[in-house]
Amino acid sequence: ALPDRCDFTVFGGTGDLALRKLLPALYHRDLEGQLPADHRILGVSMSDLDDAGWRSAVRAALVEHVDPTDLYDGAVDRFLARLFHLRLDANEPGDWDRFHSLLKDRPHPEEAVRVFYLAVAPALFGAFCRRLDEIGVVDDRARVVLEKPIGHDLESAREVNDAVGQVFAEHQIFRIDHYLGKESVQNLLVTRFANTFLEPLWNSHWVDHVQITVAETVGVGGRGAYYDHAGALRDMVQNHLLQLLCLVAMEPPTYVGRETVRDEKVKVLQALRPMSPADVDTDTVRGRYEAGLVDGEPVPSYADDLGHAGSRTETFVALKTEVQNWRWAGVPFYLRTGKRMDRRVSEIVVVFKEPPHSMFPGAEGVTAPNRLHILVQPDEGMRLHLTAKEPGPGGYRLRPVSLDLSYATAFDARLPDAYERLLMDVMKGNPTLFMRRDEVEAAWTWTEPILRRWASSSERPKRYPAGTTGPTAAATLLERDGRTWQETDQ
Ligand code: BG6
Repeated sequence: ALPDRCDFTVFGGTGDLALRKLLPALYHRDLEGQLPADHRILGVSMSDLDDAGWRSAVRAALVEHVDPTDLYDGAVDRFLARLFHLRLDANEPGDWDRFHSLLKDRPHPEEAVRVFYLAVAPALFGAFCRRLDEIGVVDDRARVVLEKPIGHDLESAREVNDAVGQVFAEHQIFRIDHYLGKESVQNLLVTRFANTFLEPLWNSHWVDHVQITVAETVGVGGRGAYYDHAGALRDMVQNHLLQLLCLVAMEPPTYVGRETVRDEKVKVLQALRPMSPADVDTDTVRGRYEAGLVDGEPVPSYADDLGHAGSRTETFVALKTEVQNWRWAGVPFYLRTGKRMDRRVSEIVVVFKEPPHSMFPGAEGVTAPNRLHILVQPDEGMRLHLTAKEPGPGGYRLRPVSLDLSYATAFDARLPDAYERLLMDVMKGNPTLFMRRDEVEAAWTWTEPILRRWASSSERPKRYPAGTTGPTAAATLLERDGRTWQETDQ
C-alpha cells in the first residue's frame, strides 16, 4: 500500500530524465489525487538552485511535457509546494550532512518511507549507496531506484549489484526498465493469460517466427557522451528488447506476483541460444546512421551528432535468436532496433504457420500467413491479419484482411506514461515490474559474446541513411530464411 508519509529523492533532479519524465509523471499522479499530502519530492543536483529556483525549472518542464489540458494552476502550485532542492557535491561530506538534515527537517521524519532515485551515472550507484548508508538514512523500508544501464557488461553489472546490495536488500532495489511500465507491454500478459484462444497456438507447432521491432526517429542528439560508450545493443537490446521477448515467450506463472513473473522471465533469458563468434557473424547486423531525411527534414550523420568521426558504435542492431526450450525449439526470434529510422514504431509480430493443407483449389487472390501485431507504440493496440473471402458470386477469391483493436478507441481514457505506474509501484514497494538481479545478469550473460565479438572484429557497422529501415543486411538476415520484416502502417 502507499505509505502516508514519503520522501521521494531524485538524485540528478535537474537532469533530462527528471524534468522530462519523472516530475511530469509524479505531477500526473498528484493530479489524480494519488499522492498523500505528506509526500515530499526532494531534488538533489550539482546546480546552484534554491527551492524556488528548482520549482520554477520544474514548472517550465511541466509546461513543456504535460498536455495543456492537464495543467491547472491550483494543481501545479500544490505539486510545486512538495518540492525542495539541495545542491550536493558527492565528494563533500558536509553536503551529505545537509542532505541528512533535509530528510530530518519534516514532521514525523522517522515514519517517512524514503525513496532514493539514482538518475545519475551508473558508475556512481555504489558510491551513492555507501554515502546514504554512512549518513544513516537507510532503514529497512527505504528503497533505491536504479536507472539502466546497470553496468556495461556482466562483470561491471555484478560490481554495481554487489555494491548496491551491501546497503540495500534485494527487495529494496528497484531496477527500472521503463518498457515494463508501458500500458501495451503490461497488456501483453493480460492478452496471453486472461484469454484462452491464443495460448494453444503460442508454440512451435503453430508459430513460424516472432519479430520484435523498436524503431526510433530520434538521433543521439545531446546524449552522445553516454551513447557512444553504450551503442544500441547495450542501450536497447540488453534491456528493453529482451524484456519484450521474455513477456512474449515466458510460461504462465501461477499468479502475477512479485517473484512469479520474474522467475518465468529469467528462465527465458537462460534459455536463449548462446552465440558463438561464428553465430555473431551470421546472426547479427550492426548499423550506423549517415545523414538523411527524417519526416522530410534533413538530419546529420551519427559522426556529426557526436562531433567526431572514428567511433565504431552502432546505432542499429538486428539479430536472430532462439529460445531453446520445449515450447519454442526451432522458432526464430528476430529483433531489431535503431535510431533515425523511417518512423517511430515499437511492435511485436507473431507470424503463424501456413495452414497445413490448401483446400481452395484454383482460388485466386492473395493469401498470407496469419499474423498478430502487438502495437506497443505510438498507437497502442493489436491487429490480427486473417485471410477472408472477397465478396462476389464468382468462386473463391481470397484476400488478407485485419481485425483491429485500438486502445484509444476501446478505452476512452488517457494512457498513463510508463513512469507513472512504475514510480507508484516504488512508493508502494511492489517490485513485480522491475528487473531482479538475476535477470539483469542473465541478460548480460547472453549479450556479452556479441559485444566481445564486435569489439574484436575489424568490420565497422554498416551504414544506413537516416530515415530508412536500416542497413540492407538487416533485410537479408530474414530473406535468407525465406522471410521478411513485417512493417505496420500505423
Ligand atoms: C531509453 C534509451 O532507455 O529508451 C533511449 O536509453 C531510447 O536511447 C529510449 O530513446 C526509448 O524509450 P521510448 O519510451 O521513447 O520508446
